[in-house]
Amino acid sequence: MQAVKIADDIYFVGAIDWSLREFHGYETGRGSTYNAYLIIDDKITLIDTVKEDRADELISRIASVIDIAAIDYIVSNHAEPDHAGSIGKLAKLCPNATIITSAPHGQKNLTARFGELKYQAVKSGDTLNIGKRNLQFITVPMLHWPDSMVTYCPEEKILFSSDAFGQHFASTGRFDDENDLPTVMYEAKKYYANILMPYGKQAHNALAALSKLDIKTIATGHGVLWRSHILSILAAYERWSVGEVEDRAVVVFDSMWHSTEKIAAEIADAFAEQGIPAEFFDLKKNPMADVVAAMFTAKYLAVGSSTLNNQMLPNVAKFLCYIKGLSPLHHLGFAFGSYGWGGQSIGLVENELKAMGIEICAEKIRVAGVPTPAQLDEIRQKIRAVAQMSGTP
Ligand code: FEO
Repeated sequence: MQAVKIADDIYFVGAIDWSLREFHGYETGRGSTYNAYLIIDDKITLIDTVKEDRADELISRIASVIDIAAIDYIVSNHAEPDHAGSIGKLAKLCPNATIITSAPHGQKNLTARFGELKYQAVKSGDTLNIGKRNLQFITVPMLHWPDSMVTYCPEEKILFSSDAFGQHFASTGRFDDENDLPTVMYEAKKYYANILMPYGKQAHNALAALSKLDIKTIATGHGVLWRSHILSILAAYERWSVGEVEDRAVVVFDSMWHSTEKIAAEIADAFAEQGIPAEFFDLKKNPMADVVAAMFTAKYLAVGSSTLNNQMLPNVAKFLCYIKGLSPLHHLGFAFGSYGWGGQSIGLVENELKAMGIEICAEKIRVAGVPTPAQLDEIRQKIRAVAQMSGTP
């Protein structure tokens, strides 16, 4: 494999994982990339590595430019194995390399994984001179691990941003302007929703720190690099980090015999009637990561489940457990469902929504058996009231 030049003497040497379809519970329908960058200067520097099982691709791309043993520094912005997994292998191939990592968490994580290597721990604001260029390290703790940092090269105006601004998106075009922009923006949103959503405050603080930098290129840890649409991705991160929601509804459910599904369809249609676009997700048929991407910027979240053995359906339980961990902000929600006799699922769903801080905007909708036209009409009236109460005309 060949290195891809991104600037004079700076190359993409990462790995493209076209067939990745799962990333710790996140469905990655467009694959991903693990981005690593090689800087040829007086001191040859590698920024990040790749997943351990993709090390051969990294090594062959590096070898297309230099003798790998000549690497002087390996900067590890983040110790998660998708970026740091090949450090053990690289340390053997680059005996002279010093591994730059954040203090104390990066060094601690790398030591736990790879044992004692030649580490140099850095703090926020530290600078490393590599010849004609300098590398400035800026820690961004909990974006999204304690060890996370980004690296800025002022001479090139490149920000090596690790997970921030990334996307799980495999393509042959390395830059934003070489790909379909709406697709890239969607994947960036999906990435933020599924990985960074719990850390909005940290993302907001990081954006404030990064706003002082003059950035020409954001060299991400995943997906495409940003050079033509930097303002767009920064503005999107600003909105996402504060939990800005749009006047939209997301209706999510699982249904045993289609009655809960009928209620879901009525709810979606009733929102639309009120001028509130609604999206409709049967959890049996949609990747959860896409549902999360839709819900995290939607003002309204309706969650429905039939009752099975006094519980909610497992797909709904999984969804609620997943979004609870993501700490969603600023949503109005309610529960609904059809049931045969007990109907416990609907109360359980409502409890989970409350427990994750979602403001309940409507009494739970409970229907025994198949909803009648009159019951569906009542549901429609209820959605009208929700829209009017919460300020939507
Ligand atoms: Fe892409 Fe947090 O690793």
